[in-house]
Amino acid sequence: MMSDLVSDYVWRKRLKEIDDAVRDIHIPKDIDNETDQDEEWCQVATADKTRRIRFHDYNEVFEIPGLYEKLFYDTLECCSPSYVVNLLEDVADEWDAELSDFKVLDVGAGNGMVGDELRHRGVRKVVGIDIIEEAKEATLRDRPGVYDDYCVADLTNLPKIDEGALRKHGLNCMTTVAALGYADIPPLAFLKALDLVSTPAWLAFNIKEDFLHGSEQSGFGRLIRQLIQEDYILPQCYRRYRHRLSIAGEPLYYIAMIAKKCKPVAAKLYAQHA
Ligand SMILES: C[S@@+](CC[C@H](N)C(=O)[O-])C[C@H]1O[C@@H](n2cnc3c(N)ncnc32)[C@H](O)[C@@H]1O
Repeated sequence: MMSDLVSDYVWRKRLKEIDDAVRDIHIPKDIDNETDQDEEWCQVATADKTRRIRFHDYNEVFEIPGLYEKLFYDTLECCSPSYVVNLLEDVADEWDAELSDFKVLDVGAGNGMVGDELRHRGVRKVVGIDIIEEAKEATLRDRPGVYDDYCVADLTNLPKIDEGALRKHGLNCMTTVAALGYADIPPLAFLKALDLVSTPAWLAFNIKEDFLHGSEQSGFGRLIRQLIQEDYILPQCYRRYRHRLSIAGEPLYYIAMIAKKCKPVAAKLYAQHA
């Protein structure tokens, strides 16, 4: 059964407005279940050529209007932006917190799908940050006006000028969806983003469930456990759900977490998670 937290209204409506350049997406059939997410690829046809694109080469994905939505959302049934944002709204309701008071830092914002979901629910301010220029360009092209500001920078080495500009926004919520782990956002970048929002602040993110296990290598399991144990964050909701299908058609399970930031990030944490 489909969860009430999944809705495709926002992205489908937006896709109709995008100047979609995708003619065809071919998913390879001879893929086994062992293929990891960061090895997945497909063949994409546009008017002028057909090319092979690795899913995690986001610069190439975002350059083709409509590809990100058609590949991950339409074909592979990803639901995470709506799922995580609906869950945030649900938990905020329990606290009588109004989304219209939220000023959100959307980390790993990509082409703006999370920002779109947040705006749709009345969030006042949304500021994006992503490490690649192509993500910002795709957002301005496909979702103009959704973000109040969009910073292209590496959070593990954030220039002072960007840090100052981000702090001036007075952000009181951080979202990060489908962007933690693999070669994407590392624990140190997550910590820096957590530091950029106020205390207290809301936190809404998702992460592949395997990355939270004790033995895993990404470092997120250890970081999240420490943040909870030392009262930096107070979890409000921890929910397992199907993020999307793999190219072999198997479900990929993620954890969506809503939490409150309760105290400022201490400098020692950076050294402990370097
Ligand atoms: C799968 S996309 C997710 C985009 C969007 N959050 C969504 O849910 O549709 C992952 C994004 O994380 C970005 N990313 C990867 N590493 C990053 C880093 N160190 N700092 C900021 N963004 C990063 C990628 O460039 C990409 O845009």
